[in-house]
Amino acid sequence: MIVDKKSYKEQIDSFVEAIPELSVTASQVVEICSRIDSTPEDLSQVVSEDSVLSEHVLKLVNSAYYSLVSEVTSLTRAITMLGFNTVKSITLSKAVNKAVARLNFPQVLPMAGFWRHSISTGVAAGMLSRVKQGSTTQREDFLICGLLHDLGKMAFVESYTEVISLSEHTQITPIEAERELYGFDHQQVGLKIARKWQFNDTIRNCIGFHHEVDRSEEVDKIQTAFLALGDVYANIYDLGYAGNFYPSETELNHLLTLTGVSWAEFRSIGKDIEAEVLKAGVFLQL
Ligand SMILES: [Fe+2]
Ligand SMILES: [Fe+2]
Repeated sequence: MIVDKKSYKEQIDSFVEAIPELSVTASQVVEICSRIDSTPEDLSQVVSEDSVLSEHVLKLVNSAYYSLVSEVTSLTRAITMLGFNTVKSITLSKAVNKAVARLNFPQVLPMAGFWRHSISTGVAAGMLSRVKQGSTTQREDFLICGLLHDLGKMAFVESYTEVISLSEHTQITPIEAERELYGFDHQQVGLKIARKWQFNDTIRNCIGFHHEVDRSEEVDKIQTAFLALGDVYANIYDLGYAGNFYPSETELNHLLTLTGVSWAEFRSIGKDIEAEVLKAGVFLQL
């Protein structure tokens, strides 16, 4: 099949352009959460300007997820209890939701399976990093990375059928098929979205190099490897579907070596993953 690669380059640009900008509130939340001298009052003031977000924060703190005895009605108290990173994750997941609401999912990648894959990738990455004592901040970021890591596939729209078909018939990975057919891949699109939303370097590296961990900046390599391992986990155990099949053993072994996760540890998250994915779904209210 002959495809005009230049026109596909324009297709990504217009896809990324059509993704809505982060709202002023969301940008301010990200900014406040990145400052070490910010107080819950500072964050509360910004969040209170967005009634939907405020409602979401209060709903979450009072949900079964946190099993509190008495209802929390103060936004500042809710923020103190949830922590800055959780509030940041909620805010960003809302932005992802808004962007996704406008997208057409290709028939070959139905939305339900795609989201299950995305959430499971983020959750599995977080759980695997917890096995290795990763920090809570990193685990929150994994959820956002999971939601966004394959979003770039949507730029291909119905052409993704060709990608899957080439990958199936020639035993190459979907990302190789994307490049061969269209001259770009979904990591590049994801990276453009992450840049547009001014995400930090770690999140950018995770999204932009989850299939080429060794190209990630050295400082973010391990974090990227955990996200990639979460992705592989979701693919091996069929947690949703985003077009990938069983990964190569070489790739899996490389990621296990980079993260220091043993085979037994990799398998060990299986007993809790379903419950954690369910919780994340409630948390994100997707
Ligand atoms: Fe991917
Ligand atoms: Fe994926």
